[in-house]
Amino acid sequence: MAAAPVRIDVPTPSRAYSVTIGDGTIDEIGRMLDELRAPARRFVVSSPLVWRLHGAQLARVVGGTEPILVPDGERYKQLATVSRIYDALVRVNADRASTVITFGGGVIGDMAGFAAATYLRGVALVHVPTTLLAQVDSAIGGKVGVNHPLGKNMIGSFYQPHAVLIDPQVLATLPRREFRAGLYEVIKYGMTSSRPLFDRVAGERKPIFARAPEALTAIIAESCRIKASVVADDEREAGPRRILNFGHTAGHAIEAVTKYRRFRHGEAVGYGMLVAAELARSRGALADRDRQALADVVASLGPLPPINDLSATQMLEAMQHDKKVVAGKLHFVLPTAIGATTIVDDVTEKELRAALKQVGFAK
Ligand SMILES: NC(=O)c1ccc[n+]([C@@H]2O[C@H](COP(=O)([O-])OP(=O)(O)OC[C@H]3O[C@@H](n4cnc5c(N)ncnc54)[C@H](O)[C@@H]3O)[C@@H](O)[C@H]2O)c1
Ligand SMILES: [Zn+2]
Repeated sequence: MAAAPVRIDVPTPSRAYSVTIGDGTIDEIGRMLDELRAPARRFVVSSPLVWRLHGAQLARVVGGTEPILVPDGERYKQLATVSRIYDALVRVNADRASTVITFGGGVIGDMAGFAAATYLRGVALVHVPTTLLAQVDSAIGGKVGVNHPLGKNMIGSFYQPHAVLIDPQVLATLPRREFRAGLYEVIKYGMTSSRPLFDRVAGERKPIFARAPEALTAIIAESCRIKASVVADDEREAGPRRILNFGHTAGHAIEAVTKYRRFRHGEAVGYGMLVAAELARSRGALADRDRQALADVVASLGPLPPINDLSATQMLEAMQHDKKVVAGKLHFVLPTAIGATTIVDDVTEKELRAALKQVGFAK
């Protein structure tokens, strides 16, 4: 028999909801939505691929109307695609008594979540994330939105879902690279907030890569717990939520300088964490043993795309444009041990250059 599902509460000021994680959760969706008294008319937004792979399972329990299918590559994460979702909702006369169910990775969740936040000034939203990244990160916390041609995630809002339902079984079909990309975010949670989670990823690599349901449920649940507690304390990212940006200052810069083509987001965060750890080590804030443990676990997930053709100068330039620059100062989340961090705003260019070089960037 499958283990009982894990439930995690997310008590944000704007809405309290729960995240349910467990094998076969999808089969329980109908019942869960009824229990939640989610408005009766239910519309699923998904992508053709995800629907082809897993739609039948969801259709059985949600029933009724045809899904709204939109493309889910990052380049489709734009207002034009959201507009197609509005069109479909209008066409089926979706009213206030409707629930939008997102069924896909972070791109579908962010776009359909934004549509749900704005259609009729907001209808009920339930996320059923199908990538590891979406399950441990994007489905929780209420950030929804799309890209603008001039920048990622520039248009959006905070809109908490009514529920998040996670079924690790859907990850069986996820391409290995996408799966690994999500694992770097799991390592991020371990490094910032939980030594046991960090050790679990390092120690249970085999069952995790085999996508054994128990191993996955354990790391997903622990990641969700961390994200939920941070989000509950700081819904709009005024303070504590910023620790989840660990690895993201350099990570975003890597994505930007390679024009979002070479790296999956999580892979860039993999390097970003190494840069932050190296900065911390060079300041004496992190033991070299802990930096090495991070480097080892990152390396153990497999090779990352190369960075030796990217220069520290390019990276510094890109970081200046980051959203984490507040009043001209770049904020860095630095690890102080495995499971602990500090936020600093006094990293000098010289330190940063040295750390980038140490991690393998060119001059
Ligand atoms: N809202 C937030 O807080 C938040 C946080 C982190 C990231 N994000 C956003 O999430 C997006 C990235 O999400 P992602 O990594 O899930 O990428 P994605 O949504 O593009 O999905 C990656 C690929 O996996 C496919 N896929 C999805 N589920 C599958 C399954 N079960 N089996 C096989 N293939 C499957 C998709 O079709 C897609 O091709 C970015 O746009 C990022 O900005 C948002
Ligand atoms: Zn991230």
